[in-house]
Amino acid sequence: MPRKVQITAPALCLFGVVTLLLCPAVLCDCRKSPSIAHGSYQDISSLLSFTTVVHYECDEGYFLVGEPQITCRSSQWSSPAPQCKALCLKPEIENGNLSVDKQQYIESENVTIHCNSGYVMVRSQTITCTENKTWYPEVPKCEWEVHHGCEQVLAGSKLMQCLPNLEDVKMALEVYKLSLEIKRLKQE
Ligand SMILES: *[C@@H]1O[C@H](CO)[C@@H](O)[C@H](O)[C@H]1NC(C)=O
Ligand SMILES: *[C@@H]1O[C@H](CO)[C@@H](O)[C@H](O)[C@H]1NC(C)=O
Ligand SMILES: *[C@@H]1O[C@H](CO)[C@@H](O)[C@H](O)[C@H]1NC(C)=O
Repeated sequence: MPRKVQITAPALCLFGVVTLLLCPAVLCDCRKSPSIAHGSYQDISSLLSFTTVVHYECDEGYFLVGEPQITCRSSQWSSPAPQCKALCLKPEIENGNLSVDKQQYIESENVTIHCNSGYVMVRSQTITCTENKTWYPEVPKCEWEVHHGCEQVLAGSKLMQCLPNLEDVKMALEVYKLSLEIKRLKQE
C-alpha cells in the first residue's frame, strides 16, 4: 500500500505542475463545459492552447439550435451552449389536413387539424410537438359523421370505395343477391 502512494504521488504532482503551466487560473476559468439535455459534447481544444473549445452534438431525433461549437476565452464562453430540440414526425391524418404541412416539426411547434367536409374531429384540434418526440395531446381523428338511419348508405359508399368501378359494384350486389336466394332455397 505505501508503495503505491510513492508511485502515484510524483505523477500527480507532475500533472498539477503541467496543468498550472498550461492553464493559469486567470486565463482558464471555463473548465466545466455546460452540459445539455438530449445531447453530448466533446472537448476539442488543441493541446498547449489557452482556449477551451467544445463541440456539441444532439442525440438522434433531436435538432441542434444555436452554435454547435463554443469557445472559452478569458473566462467567457463565446456563446451559450446550444439546445437540442426534439423532432416530431408529421401526424397521420386521414380525411383531413394540417395547418402547416411538413415532414418533421420542431419541439413546441403547434399544428391545427382541419377535417374534410362530412368528417368530424375526435379529440383536440391543436396539438404540440413535445420534447419526447410525441404529439400532445394525442393526434386527433377525422371520423365520418353518421346520421341516424344512414348506416346502409354508409355501407354502400364503403363498397363503392373498395371496388374500382360501378360494374364491379353491380356484380358484387348481384352475387350478394344470389347468395341470399341460395340460402332461402336451402331453407325451404
Ligand atoms: C403553441 O401553443 C402554445 C399554447 O397556446 C403557446 O404557448 C406556444 O407559444 C405555441 N408555440 C409556438 C411555437 O407558437
Ligand atoms: C384544409 O381544409 C380546409 C377545409 O377543408 C380548407 O379550408 C383549407 O384551405 C385546407 N388547408 C390546407 C393547408 O390545405
Ligand atoms: C416526457 O416523458 C417523460 C418520461 O416518460 C414524462 O415524465 C414527461 O411528462 C413527458 N413530457 C411530455 C411533455 O410529454
